[in-house]
Amino acid sequence: MSKFVIAEIPGDGIGPEVVGEARKVLEAVGQVAGISWEWRHFPFGAERVLKTGISVSDEDLDEVAKTDAIMLGALGDPRVSEKLLQTGGVLKTRFHFDQYVNLRPIKLYPGVDSPLKDKKAGDINFYVVRENSEDFYISLGDHFEGDSYRSDIHLDRRLYKASFGIDITVNPPQKMGFHIGALTAQGAERVARYSFELAKRKGMTRVTAVDKVNVLGEMYDIWRESVKKVACEYPGIELEFTLVDAITMFFVRRPEYYQVVVAPNLFGDIITDLAAALVGGMGMAPGGNINPEGGPSMFEPIHGSGPDIAGKGIANPVAAILAGGMMLEHLGEEKAARLLESAVSDVLGAREVRTPDLGGRSSTIQVGDAIAAQVKVLGDRL
Ligand code: IPM
Ligand code: MG
Repeated sequence: MSKFVIAEIPGDGIGPEVVGEARKVLEAVGQVAGISWEWRHFPFGAERVLKTGISVSDEDLDEVAKTDAIMLGALGDPRVSEKLLQTGGVLKTRFHFDQYVNLRPIKLYPGVDSPLKDKKAGDINFYVVRENSEDFYISLGDHFEGDSYRSDIHLDRRLYKASFGIDITVNPPQKMGFHIGALTAQGAERVARYSFELAKRKGMTRVTAVDKVNVLGEMYDIWRESVKKVACEYPGIELEFTLVDAITMFFVRRPEYYQVVVAPNLFGDIITDLAAALVGGMGMAPGGNINPEGGPSMFEPIHGSGPDIAGKGIANPVAAILAGGMMLEHLGEEKAARLLESAVSDVLGAREVRTPDLGGRSSTIQVGDAIAAQVKVLGDRL
């Protein structure tokens, strides 16, 4: 009997609704696969920010560090600044535990209609490995208005001139802001290595690396060089590079071509929303923020808190449930992970119990119940 301690962060909006169903399904899997769960609740989110001004504190993360993995719903609430909730919450957690891989499987399940009319289950099945610790997500930027700087870094005014050709002492722009993206060879290599290992483990034969080297050469030359270096260690796996603008077109034109796609942080963020749309929408796409070397990794649906549908009981819990499956796989419970995925696939394939975003009439809870019941049916056959 294995036992895992999970930090449960339901968060805001539909977060608690979908995490509740993920937990229900994981409990069912636990019963048939001999896994026991201990859930430690962390009340991060908008209410806490409104009361205390803090999203996630360092002391909180010390507590989270004692768990085996993190199950996150979503953070986000119209009453609270995005920056406080996201930068101080989700991003802080990703960075704190150096979860440098953001793994996002893109899979079209039976019974789910892709907006690409000719695609059926099995046609779309690839992984996006999003670099999760560098690039434009390092929160390094500056903003000024007239004479006053508002930022964590204060660049010398001469740098503005050197970088932007604006002599702000002579001709001050009213307002100006910028962010710095940074990328290291080590950062690119480690995420590339994870991508090739993933391809090897999944029996895939091609890794596609994304960038915008034609414009942002300082960063992405290093990216290409680093990915190529790692590729040499994997002679059986083909490497190709595709510009980020081009890959958005290819995702739509020939999604079946892709196997493992590795992308820098910001581009990875953008292309995974597009990719999610191809397989039924945000309600279908799970993700894992992973530190392959250890420490708690964090699993979440890649959708947000859905304030417009929160409290209505209609949010699709499948992404959160599949994130639970990724957590099982990460914890070394591969068989249990496959069981969970089969149960999801069976319920979706039957086209009976599903939420409105997939064209159904069922509630969040009914979908969770159906998947948990199917887990037990499949478990009995083991
Ligand atoms: C995601 C989200 C986050 C990101 C936001 C909420 C900070 O869009 O997980 O894709 O940009 O990484
Ligand atoms: Mg995103």
